[in-house]
Amino acid sequence: MLKLALLLGIASSVQAQVRVASPDGRNQVTAQVREGRLYYSVQRDGRPLLMPSLLGFEFRGGAPPLRDSLRLVDTTRNTVDETWTQPWGEVARVRDHHNELRVAVAETAAPNRRFTVVFRVFNDGVGFRYELPEQPNLKDFEIAEELTQFAMADDARAWWIPSNRPRLDRSEMLYASSPVSVMDSVQTPVTMETRDGRSYVVIHEANLVDYARMNLVGSRMENRTLHAALAPYADGGGGRGGVKVRGRTPFVTPWRTIQVADRAEDLAPSVLGLNLNPPSVIANTSWIKPMKYVGIWWGMHIGTMTWSSGAKHGATTANAKRYIDFAAANGLGGVLVEGWNVGWDGDWIQNRNAFSFTQAYPDYDLAEVARYAHEKGVKLIVHNETSGGIENYERQLDSAFALYHSLGLDAIKSGYVTDLTSEGHSHHGQYMVRHYRHVIEKAAQYGIMLDVHEPIHDTGERRTYPNMMSREGARGQEYNAWGGEGGNPPEHETILFFTRLLAGPMDFTPGIFDILIERGTGRPRRPEEPRIRTTLAKQLALYVVLYSPLQMAADLPENYEHQPAFQFIRDVAVDWDTTGVLEGKIGDYVVVARRERNGQSWFIGAITDEEARTFDIPLSFLVPGRRYVAEIYADGPGADWLTNPLPVSISRRPVTRATRLHLALARGGGTAIRIRPAR
Ligand code: NOJ
Ligand code: CA
Repeated sequence: MLKLALLLGIASSVQAQVRVASPDGRNQVTAQVREGRLYYSVQRDGRPLLMPSLLGFEFRGGAPPLRDSLRLVDTTRNTVDETWTQPWGEVARVRDHHNELRVAVAETAAPNRRFTVVFRVFNDGVGFRYELPEQPNLKDFEIAEELTQFAMADDARAWWIPSNRPRLDRSEMLYASSPVSVMDSVQTPVTMETRDGRSYVVIHEANLVDYARMNLVGSRMENRTLHAALAPYADGGGGRGGVKVRGRTPFVTPWRTIQVADRAEDLAPSVLGLNLNPPSVIANTSWIKPMKYVGIWWGMHIGTMTWSSGAKHGATTANAKRYIDFAAANGLGGVLVEGWNVGWDGDWIQNRNAFSFTQAYPDYDLAEVARYAHEKGVKLIVHNETSGGIENYERQLDSAFALYHSLGLDAIKSGYVTDLTSEGHSHHGQYMVRHYRHVIEKAAQYGIMLDVHEPIHDTGERRTYPNMMSREGARGQEYNAWGGEGGNPPEHETILFFTRLLAGPMDFTPGIFDILIERGTGRPRRPEEPRIRTTLAKQLALYVVLYSPLQMAADLPENYEHQPAFQFIRDVAVDWDTTGVLEGKIGDYVVVARRERNGQSWFIGAITDEEARTFDIPLSFLVPGRRYVAEIYADGPGADWLTNPLPVSISRRPVTRATRLHLALARGGGTAIRIRPAR
């Protein structure tokens, strides 16, 4: 197309400024060349959201930056409007309606390289990516910096977690909130609210396949301008100027995404990134099934069991069968068993290259547990902790996945507890991006679903590989089990919903009923000891609020026994037809309603931070003329996350679409509701 344009001499007639708007006309992108440099800007309703922001690259090896003396050589346009169906998700049907503008530029001086920026403008935001076509003076390359800027027009309030902190370059940090101008180095998705409260903006990326993860770095000089900062290669000289991406033309980058909404409530469910990923390459997805699961897991985190062998070893054949019986008796689809395989003894991070992914400890009979699970109609979820021993894992992938496949096991929870891999690579660099993708592809080949902890951040891979189901990639429940850092504050999940969860599902692992972690450990809790900083009812509400197609009932089975509130966990759906946010304020509260896939029941989850709140919820989404029953699990009398977290009031009442439900949430509390058709 570009060649043709050049031949036809369109080049000279192209203006130095081109625009493209969203189908509803509200979002507009302008691309322009000014003094030889290419910039884009974004407007909404004619007001600037992003000021002119630079595009381009710096390379290693003496080549000049691909940034200067550019001219526009071609523009092409396209419009797409199609609707596709997700095999599972927060919504069944997704509309991809966008206007595309391709802007081709070329250097007017040697080495006369060229590239194209493709913009897609949707009603819910903008995506753009670079295409580097095959050309004589740009073949193999090493990107030192991607020069993409996001020049915020407004000193918006942002919610973020830091990136590039030494030894903490992980996603499991508490969120902070500040004006854009004082952010230094943050991870995406980063969510922002403009000062006038009229717009919400989320910067992230989509379709990260063979590139480094993008973080954002602020700059003191242009204090509202964020710069793309790619995670570096270990062997490429580290920080600024070091190798970030190795590639060869023709090459495309991931999409840079700018999601836009008028209200916080309209940010979720976020489908912008999904629309920027290619359709599924898995033809038959019938084996890919969302489910709830329990696991030999929490015991290790609260110290009553061990991953390693010995008297407290959690993964014994007998224990696994007990969990399988519990899952079968309660209609939960899966059982996760951690610590089953050889490698956990000693320091399992130091000894990471000693993990076997096929050899079980002597007190765990993998084949027998698999057989028993099958007999009980429960899926055994295999655990693969790598601790970042990547070559060790990759060497075993085929033999391990073939073994699991032969035993009828089709779900894996994996883990990457590490800051640097044993090969010395950043958790977020191109090396690891390639690794994570390689595992997804291998898993697809062996018919295996994935739940990845310490993952690369979610950029919508699940559209192309629906076996890539859930991941952690944020601070989950486990932090409440540990001492030291004080767990997750009551506002945590109200921020997660509007940040991390916009990227995709999260295996947060809700459902701890032993809020003070004393029944499990068999002794009363001392005030300084770890605990959950929510009410019990809020733990239930998290099943609806924090979406995951693999949703854990995280507590010990014995902590669910004789607990009427457990009925909600049995009942709650894990796959949704429709999702809507009824109320939401980032960091304060969120009320979500979802209708189950292939069913008529609705579920509502409402959570609050450390403040008690009330909501009036109109049920106008229900079908006219139909009668329903609402089963309500609310904070009970006197409930308070700090002083009295356990009381749950369970009530039942007839409702129709004319009903308004009055919800009263305790401090740190929540409400969980099932609304089912009346019989
Ligand atoms: C961290 C994971 O998040 C957690 O779920 C797991 O139990 C441990 N790693 C051990 O693999
Ligand atoms: Ca983790």
